[in-house]
Amino acid sequence: MTVSHPVAVRWSEDGPAVELLDQTRLPGKVVQLRLDSAAGVAEAIRSLRVRGAPAIGIAAAMGLAVEVAAGAGGDAAALRRRLDAGHELLRRSRPTAVNLFWALERVRLRALDALGESVAAAVSAAAAEARAIAEEDRAMCLRIGENGLSLLPEGEVRALTHCNAGALATGGIGTALAPLYLAHDAGRRVRVFADETRPVLQGSRLTAWELGRAGVDVTLLVDGAAAFLLQQRQVDLVIVGADRIAANGDVANKIGTYGLAVLARHHDIPFYVAAPASTVDLATASGSAIPIEERDAEEIRRGFGRLTAPADVAVYAPAFDVTPAALITAIITDRGVVRPPYGPGLAGFAHASPQAGEPAGVEGASDERDAQ
Ligand code: MRU
Repeated sequence: MTVSHPVAVRWSEDGPAVELLDQTRLPGKVVQLRLDSAAGVAEAIRSLRVRGAPAIGIAAAMGLAVEVAAGAGGDAAALRRRLDAGHELLRRSRPTAVNLFWALERVRLRALDALGESVAAAVSAAAAEARAIAEEDRAMCLRIGENGLSLLPEGEVRALTHCNAGALATGGIGTALAPLYLAHDAGRRVRVFADETRPVLQGSRLTAWELGRAGVDVTLLVDGAAAFLLQQRQVDLVIVGADRIAANGDVANKIGTYGLAVLARHHDIPFYVAAPASTVDLATASGSAIPIEERDAEEIRRGFGRLTAPADVAVYAPAFDVTPAALITAIITDRGVVRPPYGPGLAGFAHASPQAGEPAGVEGASDERDAQ
């Protein structure tokens, strides 16, 4: 049975506004937010009310579009200033997920282009572009799911995932979770092990919640238990999302991902990364050039809403790490499955244009899918 998944971010039909599911309140409370300014959306991104690379991109695009809409009554010069200020505010919200910059640039360029015609044209062009980004992401998730299905084992599927790369992180059914959802929908037995994902628990609060809600068999483990799980061969594969994929195939993702990749290699278990074309950053040659966000030390010192460490202890708090391409078995994208060496396979992923033609050296991408 196909289930309806939670919607992380959507354009409000009720006036220019962005509707977000506040992920800081999950799993205890389902709270919808309605935001009508770039500042409000930037705060929501910074504080992880909306998170996950594709969802951040969609939210930022919509945040810029609502900011532009608020300038509908003014002249072209004022709109331009509003566009630039909103763009700057949103692009400073988080540094690692490249989808944010990609989506903002799409809306900015489209609005600027239409501004040559009129303010009203720029307002509607910005909104149309933001909505198109969301719609494209929904379709890309589905294709990632279809392309990833071929990598799942016959019979029962037992997968370990980290952080949340599901519906809550995207405009559709997720990236890493997409093949698992499709296998489940097709009636296959799917068992997902979800790392808790310290420090802010996206695995336990979000992944366990959305998988359980969808009827998928999910088992939660603390991050430190993953090594033993793999050693005991309780999973057939590890599958994670990505915040940015460099041109050589190095992948930035939630802190702890690199450790899982090392473990998977040690235990000879496939390690897959699933991501849309909008996460591929050809302008970044390798993982060492990816900016890594450092989170507030208080997220670790007060991990569970109370003091869990000496109040003044020094803290090391990178939000992401970089997994070298050499540890990745394959990268599952909406355009097909890319295998090592990743450079040639990823080279055709023209970053600013997710509609671009088929890259060379990519398995499982059909003309039919391209034509969609
Ligand atoms: O800090 P977060 O929750 O935004 O981190 C999210 C991740 O690391 C995800 O794995 C990644 O964005 C891929 S989401 C499809």
